[in-house]
Amino acid sequence: MPTDTLTITDNRTGKTYEIPIENGCIRTHALRQIKVSNDDFGLMGYDPAFLNTANCKSAITFIDGDKGILEYRGYPIEQLAEQSSFLEVAYLLLNGELPSPKQLEEFQFLVTHHTYVHENVKTFMDGFRYDAHPMSMLASTVAALSGFYPDAKHTKDEQSRRIQITRLIAKMPTIAAFSFRHSMGQPYIYPDNELSYVANFLAMIKRIGTSTYKVHPTLERALDVLFILHADHEQNCSTTSVRTVGSSEVDPYSAVASGVAALYGPLHGGANEAVLRMLRGIGHVSKIPEFIKQVKSGEGEKKLMGFGHRVYKSYDPRAKVIKRVAHEVFDVTGKNPLLEIALELEKIALQDEYFVKRKLYPNVDFYSGLIYEAMGFPVEMFPVLFAIPRTVGWCAQWEEMVKDPEQKIARPRQVFTGSTRRDYVAMDKRK
Ligand code: SDX
Repeated sequence: MPTDTLTITDNRTGKTYEIPIENGCIRTHALRQIKVSNDDFGLMGYDPAFLNTANCKSAITFIDGDKGILEYRGYPIEQLAEQSSFLEVAYLLLNGELPSPKQLEEFQFLVTHHTYVHENVKTFMDGFRYDAHPMSMLASTVAALSGFYPDAKHTKDEQSRRIQITRLIAKMPTIAAFSFRHSMGQPYIYPDNELSYVANFLAMIKRIGTSTYKVHPTLERALDVLFILHADHEQNCSTTSVRTVGSSEVDPYSAVASGVAALYGPLHGGANEAVLRMLRGIGHVSKIPEFIKQVKSGEGEKKLMGFGHRVYKSYDPRAKVIKRVAHEVFDVTGKNPLLEIALELEKIALQDEYFVKRKLYPNVDFYSGLIYEAMGFPVEMFPVLFAIPRTVGWCAQWEEMVKDPEQKIARPRQVFTGSTRRDYVAMDKRK
């Protein structure tokens, strides 16, 4: 009768071990019993970049990379993008269930009434160079919030956790908009509590003077859908940063700031900015074959930005939705000339053996930048537009980690490859 165990024979000693299999995993710590002598430390698992290592149990987001499936708390992303709103999805990710009308109204009220930041945050942000990248401003300013809310260190207190999470979700658009306005040399626009979450953000970005800024409903809905699509994605690089930093029991502002920093990287959330720069660099559909040749030859370490994924080995389901939203946005803003290059690039890449063999498909970042550019955002703001919604996922994952009795401070081991023990050499004795 097969049992859920792994039988391991250590050929160095001939000993056999039965390791339990749970949830398709073995506890790597169970390998420590495999020793060649009593003073042997025992075996460890070695998995650089965690290619095949689960560092937590989570009930928030499910991804099937081969089937291109993404579900938030069991709900397919396609249905949420079609029928839900970002704040409703935020409630779902944080609480595990879709809200009742009253619960959603209360949640929206709370978020709306925490959008202001302390006036000193403006002074803090004025200290950045005029051309500072908004992601560096966002990461620093989010970290600085821990200085404004010292009660945030009570991470074991549910009430304190929830108020900090509300503040983070509410203030991220404000800080993001202030970062943009700073880089444009324009005065900050304060939040307007009469507007929706997305309309308020767009107004803080675009409003000039005291005139009311009318948000085009198609663009407001498009950004709301993009926020839904970017809200969470299980244990990606930035979420792993938030969980790891948060495991030291630091406040959530400091933990989320580490997530912003990780997302800034061009291999992660910075990819949408890199896609636009890549498309601009290609310049014309006639130049695509040459570019593809450079990517395949590894010339200049060029990558097809917006393609490939650690988990998705098929089309990223979010990219399919974004492609549809792109056409709706371009009906309003006019088509982005780079779209033609992107569509042709995708067509060629999906037929090319190099990309097919490596299962490289468009990911969430391939088309999103085209929409942001059509909406008038500079490329530097693209990763910021990723960080705003991902704040919900970071907070949900952080709180799940805090409440998980199996979690403790993250402290991996290493395989030491350095010098064996040696004595200090006085300066006059060195070669
Ligand atoms: C996000 O984890 C998440 O969930 C992230 C995210 C989220 O929502 O949080 O989905 C958001 O970060 C999406 C990914 C955005 N990044 C990019 O678009 C940058 C370009 N993509 C690559 O850098 C890469 O595909 C990664 C980083 C996304 C994944 O890299 P992996 O899993 O470490 O894979 P790899 O680098 O080992 O690549 C395997 C092979 C290599 O070739 P060989 O050594 O086998 O010859 O595929 C090649 C790579 O060189 N390859 C690419 C490529 N991506 C991988 N070649 C050309 N262009 C690419 N984009």
